[in-house]
Amino acid sequence: MLNLKSIGMEPGLLYETIITTLNPDNTPNAAPIGVTCKGLDEIIIYLHQGSHTVKNIKNNDTFIVNILNDPILFVQSTIGNPPIESFVEYRDNYALKNSEAYFKAQITKRREVQRKDQFGVSKTTIVNAHVEEIIKNQDCVTPLNRAIYGIIEALVYLTRINMVTGDTEKLYKLRIKEINRIINKVGASNHKDAMKTILQEFNKND
Ligand SMILES: Cc1cc2nc3c(=O)[nH]c(=O)nc-3n(C[C@H](O)[C@H](O)[C@H](O)COP(=O)(O)O)c2cc1C
Repeated sequence: MLNLKSIGMEPGLLYETIITTLNPDNTPNAAPIGVTCKGLDEIIIYLHQGSHTVKNIKNNDTFIVNILNDPILFVQSTIGNPPIESFVEYRDNYALKNSEAYFKAQITKRREVQRKDQFGVSKTTIVNAHVEEIIKNQDCVTPLNRAIYGIIEALVYLTRINMVTGDTEKLYKLRIKEINRIINKVGASNHKDAMKTILQEFNKND
């Protein structure tokens, strides 16, 4: 049987996916959700209150994780839902037709916690799930991890920091700080090492 490694997901890393769930009227709902890979067939997701996704997940034992990097589908799923033709029926649920891969996740544990982050204290539903069946639509699947994009953005700011002053310099420093936060949240050790080096270089300008 296929496991998460076969679709490029490594333990400890957080990937940006689109999760499809079933609404109470049996129509599909899609939303971008970060999925942390916990092993070969275990994942964990953190859901903020108020979304259709968290409500649907409380009503169902399963959900579908779609791996893709289609910008339009990400936008449609964030501000509403993709058109119904974008979905394909799959195991009493729906998947996104144009996914590179998708899999059914069976919920094994669900708990509510109060979490404190940069936006304040909020209720979060933490869901552990077991990966059931993986469907690959292409040989090479590339799950989205934000860390490499952060490294590239940070490098662009690094190469420009000596060219800017005043508000622009302040803005670049804030952006570097935010990129560092994201990389420490979603990246692997090589991303974190790379970011450390960038920060050292960046701080030479102080
Ligand atoms: C890249 C990306 C990742 C996201 N990850 C999460 C997440 O891990 N947990 C969460 O609750 N919301 C996350 N969101 C926000 C939801 O996708 C957003 O609130 C969405 O509108 C919910 O849609 P729904 O009401 O159809 O469930 C993310 C959004 C984006 C763009």
